[in-house]
Amino acid sequence: METDTMTPLKTILLDRILSKGRITFADFMAACLYEPGLGYYTSPGRKVGAEGDFYTSMNVHLVFGRLVAREICRMWESMGSPGRFDIIEAGAGAGQLAKDILDTIAGINLPFYDTLTYCLVEKEPTLKEAQKAKLADHLARLDWHTPEELAEGGSTFSGCLLSNELIDAMPVHLVEMTPAGLMEVYVTALDGEFGEMLDEPSTPELAAYLKRLGISLFAGQRAEISLAAIGWLEAAAKAVEKGFVLTIDYGYPADELYAPMRKNGTLLCYYQHTTEESPYIRVGLQDITSHVNFTALMERGEELGLHTVWFGEQYRFLLGAGLMEEMLALEKSGVSETELIKNRLALKKLMLPDGGMGDTFKVLIQAKGVDNPQLLCMRDWGKCF
Ligand SMILES: C[S@@+](CC[C@H](N)C(=O)[O-])C[C@H]1O[C@@H](n2cnc3c(N)ncnc32)[C@H](O)[C@@H]1O
Repeated sequence: METDTMTPLKTILLDRILSKGRITFADFMAACLYEPGLGYYTSPGRKVGAEGDFYTSMNVHLVFGRLVAREICRMWESMGSPGRFDIIEAGAGAGQLAKDILDTIAGINLPFYDTLTYCLVEKEPTLKEAQKAKLADHLARLDWHTPEELAEGGSTFSGCLLSNELIDAMPVHLVEMTPAGLMEVYVTALDGEFGEMLDEPSTPELAAYLKRLGISLFAGQRAEISLAAIGWLEAAAKAVEKGFVLTIDYGYPADELYAPMRKNGTLLCYYQHTTEESPYIRVGLQDITSHVNFTALMERGEELGLHTVWFGEQYRFLLGAGLMEEMLALEKSGVSETELIKNRLALKKLMLPDGGMGDTFKVLIQAKGVDNPQLLCMRDWGKCF
C-alpha cells in the first residue's frame, strides 16, 4: 500500500482523539465525509463523474433520469394530478439528476411541469451555484432547503422525496460480534496513525437494531449499522404529508446484508475510480460508503406510515419505467452507429446483474396517504414490448 498522506483533517482528528479520547467509527466517518470545509463531501472539487472518484447512475446515461421522471409523472397521476406537487431531491449533488428529470417532464408532461416545485437539498452548500448554473432553464420551478430544515420538520411536502446514492454516504457504526457479546469499533490515535479498539457499544440502539431485524452475527463477524439512515427516514416521514419516498441506492435486504459470507461487512472507500478497503488513509480525500439495509428502511417506514409499494433491483425498475421504449426511440432517432453503440454500452452498465449496477442497486418506493398507486415499475415488463 502506498504511503499515506498527512492531510489537515487527519491532523485535526488525531489531535481531537488525543485530547478527548477515542471516538466511534460513526463519528470518525462523519468527520471524514462532512467536517466543515475539510471532509470529503464538504471540501472543494468534484466527487462524482469522470473528474471525480466514482460514477453514479445518472452519469452513466441520461435515460436513468428520464425513467425516474416518467415514474414521477405516474406518481403525480396516481395522486389525482394535484395542482401542487413537490419533488424534493436529497443529496442532489451538482444537480445532474434534477436536470434530466426536469428536462424530461417539461418535454412529456407540460401541465405537470407547470404545477411542480423541485426542491434541492444538499449538505455541501457550495454546490448550490453549480446547481443554479446547470438548472438555468428551470429556475422558476426551483427551491432549496438545507438538510437541517428538512430534518427539523418545519416544512411539509406533498409529492415525491427522492434520493440517489444518499444513504450509502451516511456515517455508520461498526460492530463486531465477540465471545463476550456485541462490541463496537472505536477509533484511537497512536504514534501519528489511527487505530481501532473494541468496547461496549456506545448506545443500546445498536443491539436493539439487530434484534428488531432478527439478525444474529456470528463470532468474528463485523457489520455496519446505520442509525443515521433510520433518523433520515424518520425525518422524511414527517416531511412528506402525502406522496412517495423514492430511494435508489446499492444495498440488500437485512438477511443478505448480514449474511455470514459478508464476514467483514460492506464498508468500502473510493478514490479516483479505484476502491480501497482502509478508511484510515487519505483522510478527507476518499469517499467512504457502506451498503444500505433496505429491510430496516421498510420496517421503520411501515411504523411511520410509509408503506412499501415497490422494492426491487434497479434493472427491474428501469425496465418497468420504460427502458425498452426509450431504447427503441433512440434507435429510430437517426443517431450515428457510433452513438448507438455508446448508448448500448451505457445501458448495459445500468442494467447488468451479478455485481453490476443492475442488481446491486435497488429501488425502494414507499407511499403515504396514496391508495393503491399504479406505478410504471409495477408493470409486467415482459408484456410491455
Ligand atoms: C454519493 S453522493 C450522490 C450525489 C448524487 N445524488 C448522485 O447520485 O450523483 C451523496 C451526496 O449526498 C450529500 N448528503 C449527504 N448527507 C446528506 C443529507 N443529510 N442531506 C442532503 N444531502 C446529503 C453529500 O454531500 C453528497 O453530495
